Amino acid sequence: MAKISRLSLAGLRNLAPVALDTDSMNILITGSNGAGKTALLEGISLLATGRSFRESRLQRCQQWQATQLTLYAEVDNCQGQHKLGWQRYKQNTQLRLNGEQITSQAQLARQLPIQVFSPESHDLLTHGPNERRRFLDWGAFYQEASFLPAWRRYQHALKQRNHALKQQRPDNEIALWNAPLWDAAQQIHQTRSKYTALLAETATPLLAQVSDSLQNIQLSYQAGWPEHETTLMTLWHQQLAHDRQLGYTQAGPHRADLKLRIEDRDALSLLSRGQQKLLALTLMLAQAQLLRNAIQETPILLLDDLAAELDAQHQARVLTLLPSLNTQTFLTATNEDSLKLLSTQRQHWHLEQGNIRIIQ
Ligand SMILES: Nc1ncnc2c1ncn2[C@@H]1O[C@H](COP(=O)(O)OP(=O)(O)OP(=O)(O)O)[C@@H](O)[C@H]1O
Ligand SMILES: [Mg+2]
Repeated sequence: MAKISRLSLAGLRNLAPVALDTDSMNILITGSNGAGKTALLEGISLLATGRSFRESRLQRCQQWQATQLTLYAEVDNCQGQHKLGWQRYKQNTQLRLNGEQITSQAQLARQLPIQVFSPESHDLLTHGPNERRRFLDWGAFYQEASFLPAWRRYQHALKQRNHALKQQRPDNEIALWNAPLWDAAQQIHQTRSKYTALLAETATPLLAQVSDSLQNIQLSYQAGWPEHETTLMTLWHQQLAHDRQLGYTQAGPHRADLKLRIEDRDALSLLSRGQQKLLALTLMLAQAQLLRNAIQETPILLLDDLAAELDAQHQARVLTLLPSLNTQTFLTATNEDSLKLLSTQRQHWHLEQGNIRIIQ
C-alpha cells in the first residue's frame, strides 16, 4: 500500500510554500471556493505523473510570480520508504528519486501510484468509446505485462495499413499488414476481455454497496467487430474496398468499447448525472483493487469535490466504503461534514487563500 507520509510544495498555483506530515489514511482538505484545494491534489498528481488532471499546460500550474515549482514527498510503499522530488525551473523539469537525479517520470509513478477522481472524471464513461477504451487499457496495462507491447505493435501496423489505404497502394501491399495487425489484435482482445470480466466481478459488490440503483449494471467488452459472426481477418478482406474509400481500417480493437447495460438497455442513457458519476467512481475504485492484486500496491486516491454531484446519502455510502479498500485517500470539500464519516485514522487540513494548516 502506497502512503504519503510527508508532502511539501512551493510555487504551486496560489498555495503558500508548505511541508505537511501525516500518518493518516484519510485526509480531508477543506476550504472555500478558490482556496487551493484542487491545487493541492494537482501537486500530488504532478509529482506522480508529471501531469495535472485538469490542465494540459504545466506553465499554468506554476505560481505566477514564482521562478520555480517544487514538489517533494516521502512515500511508504511495499518496497520501503522513498523520497520523490519534482522541480520545474525555466520550462525544464528535474526529477529525483532517493536523492538521485532520474530521467523517467515512470519511475516516480511506480513509487507513487495514484487514482484521481474529479468532477470531470465521469467523462471517462460519457465521452464516448475512446475514453472508455483508455480506462480499460490503463487497467489492462497493469494486469498483463504483454499488453503494452501488443498495443504498440497494433498501433504501428494500423498506422501503416491506413497509410497504404490512403495512398491507394495495391491490395497485396495493404494485405501485408493484416498478419501483424491480427497477431497484436488477438492479444489486445484477450487481455481486455479478461480484464473486463475481472472488473465486473470486482465492481459488482462495490456497486451494490454505493447505490441501490446501480446494482444491476452489467459490464461487457465489445470487440470492435462482430466477433461471433466472422473473424477479423475475413472482415479486413471483405471490407477492403470500403476501407479504401474511407482511407482507414474500419474494424478492429481500435473500435472496441466497454458496454454498460441495465437489463439489456444502455445504462448511460438511463442514468442521471449523479448516478453516472457514482458509477464512474465505483469503477475506478474497482480498478484500484485490481491494481493491488496485480502489482501488490494500492494506489493513493485523490477525490476532488466529491460533493459536486453526489447527495449526502451517496457520499456517505462511498466514504464508509473507503476503509475496506485500504488506500490512503486525500479528499476535498467546501465543508467538514464528511469528517465524521471518515475512519478514525483521519486528518483534517484547512486552506484559507492558499495557506494550509493542520486542524487535527
Ligand atoms: N498560476 C497561478 N498562480 C497563482 N494563483 C493561481 C494560479 N492558477 C490559479 N490560481 C488561483 O489559485 C486558486 C486555486 O484554486 P483551486 O481550484 O485549487 O481552488 P479550490 O479550493 O479547489 O476551489 P473550488 O472549491 O472552487 O473547487 C484560485 O483562486 C486561482 O485563482
Ligand atoms: Mg476545486
